[in-house]
Amino acid sequence: MVFWFNSDRERGRVFAEAFARELPDLPLVTDISEHDPDEILYILTWTAPPDLHRFRNLKVVFSIGAGVDQFKSEILPPKVMLVRMVEDGIIRMMQEYVTLAVLALHRKLKAYVGQQADAVWQSVPVRQAAEQRVGILGLGMLAGAVIERLKPFGFPLAAWSRSERQVEGVECYHGQEGLTPFLARTDILICLLPLTQETEGLLDARLFETLPAGAALVHVGRGAQLDHDALIAALDAGHLSGAIVDVTEPEPLPPEHGFWRHPKIILTPHIASVTQPETAARAVINNIKRHRDGLDPIGLVDRERGY
Ligand code: GLV
Repeated sequence: MVFWFNSDRERGRVFAEAFARELPDLPLVTDISEHDPDEILYILTWTAPPDLHRFRNLKVVFSIGAGVDQFKSEILPPKVMLVRMVEDGIIRMMQEYVTLAVLALHRKLKAYVGQQADAVWQSVPVRQAAEQRVGILGLGMLAGAVIERLKPFGFPLAAWSRSERQVEGVECYHGQEGLTPFLARTDILICLLPLTQETEGLLDARLFETLPAGAALVHVGRGAQLDHDALIAALDAGHLSGAIVDVTEPEPLPPEHGFWRHPKIILTPHIASVTQPETAARAVINNIKRHRDGLDPIGLVDRERGY
């Protein structure tokens, strides 16, 4: 029985070393052409390889990323567990990026970058943190970690989740009926939701209208959640003041797309948070040990819910 590492060589080296040390009885293979499909017990991959049904003994598919929307349920046999990546590197990088983005919007960084290009030396009005209401769409593990990083700045914090949750020091909203009051009190909106049927296209014109005038967006969820034209329209109308966008649909955006040169948008190429091989290998090894002990892996996806 083997673990199929279906990713790049660089990461593969780190994983192979860790596996040899921690799980010497589970060979890690990168090329399965020499192996009987029945030997494949676990797969680590970014997207589902075709013909997954031929791996009749497959138990767990580990996603390389935190997102699992790329695994369509029809190609993943129902008895196979799907596990999203939960590892310290992803968490830390998301904390860094969102903190960077919130502070950049809070302190009007994009305006100063523009002024510098025009040799303008001039202050822009700024609110105090206690008046800058930050709201996070999503209350999963990444959102929780981001909230902890943002707390010391003193922004009034709120979060919205699908089902009811409580987090100390955070005004929590939930469900369809909680969305409007959550948006209405949010000056900087952070989208950290997984992509599901319910969240596809969620960041649309209506949602932007519900935010208070001058609000800003940090988008680190998934590209398909954002209506690009609606964002540009809300920024151009002056209703929204800025956006920092790390994920788009498609990726990359075509060269003529309006986000590239928009004076109120900072665009980054899906780099907010990237799986780090050392910590990811540790997380996957830990999950294999849990699986062998009959425990659920950490990050097990609810296939019904989609995350
Ligand atoms: C990146 O977007 C990930 O899913 O880890």
